[in-house]
Amino acid sequence: MKGLILSGGTGSRLRPITHTGPKQLVPVANKPVIEYAVEDLKNAGITEIGVVLGHKGREEIQEHLGDGSDYGVEITYIIQGNPLGLAHAAGTARDFVGDDDFVMYLGDNILNEGISELVDSFEAGNYGAGIALQRVDNPQAFGIADVDDDETVTRLVEKPDDPPSNLALIGIYVFSPAVFDAIERLEPSWRGELEITDAIQELLEDGFAIDSHTVDGWWKDTGKPKDILEANRLVLQDTEQLLTGTIKDGAEVTGTVQIGESATVQNGAVIRGPVSIDSGTTIASGSYIGPYTSIGPNTTIDGAHIENTVVIGESRITCDEKIVNSLIGRASEIESAKGLLPDGHRFVIGENSNVKL
Ligand code: G1P
Repeated sequence: MKGLILSGGTGSRLRPITHTGPKQLVPVANKPVIEYAVEDLKNAGITEIGVVLGHKGREEIQEHLGDGSDYGVEITYIIQGNPLGLAHAAGTARDFVGDDDFVMYLGDNILNEGISELVDSFEAGNYGAGIALQRVDNPQAFGIADVDDDETVTRLVEKPDDPPSNLALIGIYVFSPAVFDAIERLEPSWRGELEITDAIQELLEDGFAIDSHTVDGWWKDTGKPKDILEANRLVLQDTEQLLTGTIKDGAEVTGTVQIGESATVQNGAVIRGPVSIDSGTTIASGSYIGPYTSIGPNTTIDGAHIENTVVIGESRITCDEKIVNSLIGRASEIESAKGLLPDGHRFVIGENSNVKL
């Protein structure tokens, strides 16, 4: 069994964060989203992994994951080029996959129960594909599977106007190499893409059985800022205490907290977990870091109160203000304007930024 992580896409819904890097490297609980996919594959015993790259962030992803040895896997990079759909991306990996079965994992998806059950279930039978499903409230936004009373998959349809069920295909699939012939026969959908959902429907019509596995734990597609905050909350609520940095006397630290190497929580700072503070970061006196917050590396927080927020890192937040539900990009600076004239907020904001005052 091989692994395929799809890491193309433009990240348009995550602008401005994705103006300077691919969405797959946005950190959740101080770890880039794509690393969760690598770890899930590794934990399912899959170490030969192909990473399919689009135009955006090619170099950054290769630089970050390297040859995979830091993660105990072996990574091969495959260039998709134009973003013509998930099935197109899978099709570009035909030579890499060869005659093996493979797991295809969307590089911006994250789920807490891992993929071993899905893989084991696929391997126990004789299937053309295995799909992971979860019930959703908005089935029009997903690929949807129809199943009969025995939970046998009978039909698949991408973003249906009139959904036959609310069972969404989440971004993790297992395929036999038969899928490549099915992909070659596909026509672009209304959105101009070769849909992986259509390829699975094609396998079904070819007479292959499709295995399905309903995912009970949480799953998140981290396409939008609010999804990043939600994924960050879900990961932090399951993390364990890890105190590598320094907590000075007089600092108040409660709840589950991770404090990275050479990070410092100074006297008079208050931290209420679950919180993750990355290496080299300083939380100064008078600052408050509240639940579901991740502060990236080499950052200074001085005086601010921050909750339910992701600060990506290399930043300085030195104002005496309350910051909540925010996603703050790398190398940002938020300082106080108190005492400056004329009185007022001052911004240097990039394209597609969003500010609520
Ligand atoms: C894609 C797939 C869809 C699937 C979803 C999971 O949708 O086309 O079938 O349900 O991922 O996140 P997209 O993110 O391209 O809208």
